[in-house]
Amino acid sequence: MKLTVFKNEEELDLAAASSVVEVIKANPEATLGLATGQTPVGLYQKLVQAYQNGQVLFKQVTTYNIDEYAGLAKDHPQSFYYFMKTHLFSKVDLTEENIHIPDGVAPDLEAEAECYESLLQKARQLDVQILSIGLNGHIGFNEPGHTLHAETHVLTLTEDTREVNSQAFSSLADVPKKAITMGLGSMMKAKKIVFIAKGDAKAAILKQAFKGPIDPLVPASLLQLHPNIEVYLDEKAAKYLM
Ligand code: GLP
Repeated sequence: MKLTVFKNEEELDLAAASSVVEVIKANPEATLGLATGQTPVGLYQKLVQAYQNGQVLFKQVTTYNIDEYAGLAKDHPQSFYYFMKTHLFSKVDLTEENIHIPDGVAPDLEAEAECYESLLQKARQLDVQILSIGLNGHIGFNEPGHTLHAETHVLTLTEDTREVNSQAFSSLADVPKKAITMGLGSMMKAKKIVFIAKGDAKAAILKQAFKGPIDPLVPASLLQLHPNIEVYLDEKAAKYLM
């Protein structure tokens, strides 16, 4: 694991984005695994800047988002597709057919999860997977539990996660109860993981994830097993890891 701690958020975002840009420069047809949440917003801004400055093109890049809420259509402002469109898809030259994200309003969610998994299997190995962590140690929506899933699946969100994520909704009741998430298999198979976390609130779970035992109750602890993970943290998030 290559852990870097940054004093300044701007530098963190730039370093993490540069690592992604390097991958695309080396292979313009790279496949990227993408995450949502407030944490990677700055990284996406830096990717957009790199595109605007002519440092990188996304024309031949293919993306796979790691999760989506059940019941939210692409044009729902709280859907992860909408988030991605706002922060990245509408700002770079990615082509619509190369963008993949589970369909939260598919009539049969289980079938949609299977279909997404076969797309990932066809892609074989993501070149880079961008990840951050939920307060309870989830990655994507792989929630803590006694069984972790390797493959894309439909899951019931924990009440903790619904509560944390309710900040983006007008009320807790509006937060979907289910979601579709990429399993840990595709994430762990990625050639490189760019993991970012920021702020005090994440410090305790990061200690468990990176210094504690590998434990399905802390899904992110599995990342300790990845052979090529870059961890980008600010000082607050890293306070128990230094
Ligand atoms: C959601 C996403 C996760 C993300 C987490 C943390 O639950 N499914 O992929 O890591 O939020 O979000 P934030 O970066 O806003 O703390």
